[in-house]
Amino acid sequence: MRIAKIIGGLGVALAISASLVATASYGQVPRARAQAQAAENFTLVMLPDTQYASESWPEVFRAQMQWVDDQQSASNIRYVLHVGDVVDNSDQQYQWDNSKSAMGLPADDVPYIIGPGNHDLDSTTTRAATRYNLNYPRATFTGLPSFGGTYPSTQNDNAYHTFTAGGVDWLVVALKYAPNDSEIAWANQVVSAHPKHNAILVTHAYQNGTTKDANGTKLWTNLVSRHANFRFTFSGHYVNAGVISQQGVNGNTVHQIQADYQSLSQRDPNSYMRVMTYNPTTDTLDVKTYSPYLNRYMTDAKNQFVLNNINPVSPATGSRTEFESGTCDGTIDSNQAGFSGTGFCNTSNMVGAAAQVTVSADTSGAAKLTFGYANGGSSDRPTTVSVNGTTVGTLPFPPTAAWTNWATTTVNVNLNAGNNTIRLSATTAGGAPNLDYVDVA
Ligand code: GCU
Ligand code: CA
Repeated sequence: MRIAKIIGGLGVALAISASLVATASYGQVPRARAQAQAAENFTLVMLPDTQYASESWPEVFRAQMQWVDDQQSASNIRYVLHVGDVVDNSDQQYQWDNSKSAMGLPADDVPYIIGPGNHDLDSTTTRAATRYNLNYPRATFTGLPSFGGTYPSTQNDNAYHTFTAGGVDWLVVALKYAPNDSEIAWANQVVSAHPKHNAILVTHAYQNGTTKDANGTKLWTNLVSRHANFRFTFSGHYVNAGVISQQGVNGNTVHQIQADYQSLSQRDPNSYMRVMTYNPTTDTLDVKTYSPYLNRYMTDAKNQFVLNNINPVSPATGSRTEFESGTCDGTIDSNQAGFSGTGFCNTSNMVGAAAQVTVSADTSGAAKLTFGYANGGSSDRPTTVSVNGTTVGTLPFPPTAAWTNWATTTVNVNLNAGNNTIRLSATTAGGAPNLDYVDVA
């Protein structure tokens, strides 16, 4: 439960659609279950610039988040995406307090992620986010099942979360206002490591209606357009609303959605937010703009529309086990970009150097193991594979041209129901390749 559940008389809860059916599971569903899960409708809520609400009209902000709580089940609301400018004046603690009274803790009800805006920063020149981190610290988010990671690793300036909804996996990357090159590089690494997740970018300033600004142009060119799994970007900052639907270099369409209703002089515009329902059966995103405080929709074409052909990426089959979760005759490293999880096993360069993980199988019988690996050397790294102590063969692990080029190789094995030990042991003096993960299918 969030605190401050009291709303003004107009804050009547209203279901978006009577046809939406609640489902039992919230939070993250293990990958293996994602496909078995019914492909249900689900809803994302986008909160545009709440800065003046935090400053002057906290009741409209509270009404928004109260509505999210009340409708969580009926509308299957799975995430709140705050596109930044949580507050107007970051040096005014009361504005942060007003925002927190509305947002509650991210683990309270519907989880949320924030892409801090220019007003949330200490200074737009330094882009320091001390006050944002004091009020929305990383530690507040790490307990979420959907929490993925942050950059820098000890701060919440930039963050990614993952969740499963509508029968597929989603990755939300939230980048602080005006991302710099190292932040964009981090985001690229995160998106690359989640090829079977549908990527969503949340960032404050990206486009003004249907025209990208300098940040949006840079983010499109250097991040969003580059990945086949990008589907949406959400931003605010400009008092406007617009959508750009555009194909990236891999041919996938990315819907880039912007809205901001902030008004310094009037309360009511600040009370609107986006309520967006994905329907897997029709493959559509139904976008509505609603004020819980006024119980009113904006129904003009810029604010109420349907996006077709979202074409989400199917979830990975089987389950993944990261080599960093096992034992490694060498070191768990993270210096070669592009790996999945938090690192990889870099075995010592010697015969017999091994990496071992435990994988789980639902049933006994034939299974395919897919190893993610990199071999930046010039020759094969032949390595024996054994399952539950029995050698099943030797895989060559041919060169991948660079230590940052990650490839896959497969082997068919038999697994027991339950836990199985997978051990890779180098047969030559070069040791094993860098070992990232094993997928079981
Ligand atoms: C380099 C590289 C390592 C790799 C090693 C090797 O040192 O940085 O990631 O494991 O080569 O040859 O095994
Ligand atoms: Ca090595």
